[in-house]
Amino acid sequence: MAIEMSVISVGAVFLVVFLLIVLICTSGQRDKCVQEDQKDSKSTATESRLLQYFYQFLPRTSAPSLPGPPSLFLIGNMMELTHDHLPIHLTNLAQRYGNIYRLKCGPTTMVVLNSTDVIREALVKKWSDFAGRPGSYTGDIVSGGGHTISLGDYNEEWRAHRRLVHSALQRCCQQSLHDVIERQALHLRKVLMDYQGRAVDLSEDFTVAASNVITTLTFGKEYDKSSLELQQLHSCLNEIVALWGSTWISALDSFPLLRKLPNPVFSRLLKEVVKRDEIIRKHLNNYKSQDKINADAITGSLLQGLDKQQSAEHGVLLTDIHVHMATVDLLIGGTETTAAWLNWTVAFLLHRPEVQTKVHEELCTVLEGRYPKYSDRHRLPVLCSLIHEVLRLRPVAPLAVPHRAIRDSRSAERYAVIMTENKED
Ligand code: HEM
Ligand SMILES: *[C@@H]1O[C@H](CO)[C@@H](O)[C@H](O)[C@H]1NC(C)=O
Ligand SMILES: *[C@@H]1O[C@H](CO)[C@@H](O)[C@H](O)[C@H]1NC(C)=O
Repeated sequence: MAIEMSVISVGAVFLVVFLLIVLICTSGQRDKCVQEDQKDSKSTATESRLLQYFYQFLPRTSAPSLPGPPSLFLIGNMMELTHDHLPIHLTNLAQRYGNIYRLKCGPTTMVVLNSTDVIREALVKKWSDFAGRPGSYTGDIVSGGGHTISLGDYNEEWRAHRRLVHSALQRCCQQSLHDVIERQALHLRKVLMDYQGRAVDLSEDFTVAASNVITTLTFGKEYDKSSLELQQLHSCLNEIVALWGSTWISALDSFPLLRKLPNPVFSRLLKEVVKRDEIIRKHLNNYKSQDKINADAITGSLLQGLDKQQSAEHGVLLTDIHVHMATVDLLIGGTETTAAWLNWTVAFLLHRPEVQTKVHEELCTVLEGRYPKYSDRHRLPVLCSLIHEVLRLRPVAPLAVPHRAIRDSRSAERYAVIMTENKED
């Protein structure tokens, strides 16, 4: 059961870096960006997203004067973003340039925030200044034209979409989520017991358990580890995430002319997106044609929500595509994140049996033999600390998801004025 603890530099493990994207765009036209996935196996076993920005050959002005590494002709600081261990590299740059610094990528200035205080200020206190998401050519392709919640830009349509999913999730939390999770947890316990103490890699079992919670909610279905359908779904989603991060794909965002040339990697991405959409469409159609609607599935709430919003608030009409892409959001957002957390939690508990004992004792005393519910969390401080501590030590998404400033903003750290010329509010 050895994990090489020594490879992990202590300074890097509690790294929490957010990228803020500031678009400086004289013409008000949208800049493009590429999200790139990087495997950072030393600081975290899961993928983190990073952004690259590139050129539009237009003169740009009024870049805020933030500190940052010297920027090269044409490529700016793009080389900084190709580092193998990007979260660690960005933390190192903060040593030199401070907690708010910029990286230039062509016409676009990317702002990196390093400290908890600054991140909280930007994403909590002044969240509405940074509520946007940067868009891109390939991002539009994987998100069905920006129709996902995770990649969609901040506008009335996105807000209505998010509200729809939020209320469906809330209803589902009240009604069935607990039972769905408990069922998968009990099944996972059985799988672990069946190994009878043998040394095994559990990451696939964790993926199946996390995935079954989400597919029960979205498709009304759960799968066996050996299920071909499950493997197809995951290979397709993982492939999309991986291909989208490859240089062959990012290049298309940076250099529009390349889109005219044949590109086998891009063709594969398109093929996987089609496959993903077929799988999801099949399930949604199945769902709609059922006589007896599966009460656990969130899809029912989403579709009902569509019917209810006929009056179309603010001129926004949500359609099947919004339900479809929300399903993609939940599948991608909810599977590998939870699975990676479980995987690391077990690894840490193996090395800290005294913590395992403490959590177990707390569960036994507080719950008196029943299984935990989400509402018990306030009475389970040791368990909650364990959850937070593992996320701190092995952040699942260390660079989070980039934001875009939708209006000028100013940090309490005086020199940092983050601007955009798209004054929307
Ligand atoms: C350990 C577990 C998880 C971690 C660490 C995590 C992390 C994150 C982060 C960092 C973001 C970006 C927030 C931002 O833009 O500021 C995000 C967004 C999102 N996550 Fe998760 N997540 C987890 C679990 C889940 C689960 C279980 C689901 C689905 C059931 C989910 C669905 C989403 C969605 C839909 C978004 C986009 C929300 C938006 O843009 O407003 N995540 N997550
Ligand atoms: C950047 O953040 C890391 C992790 O929170 C912290 O250790 C480091 O001191 C920060 N850098 C600066 C310059 O404050
Ligand atoms: C699961 O955790 C182990 C450490 O026990 C790590 O080596 C492995 O990369 C992790 N796998 C995933 C998919 O997170």
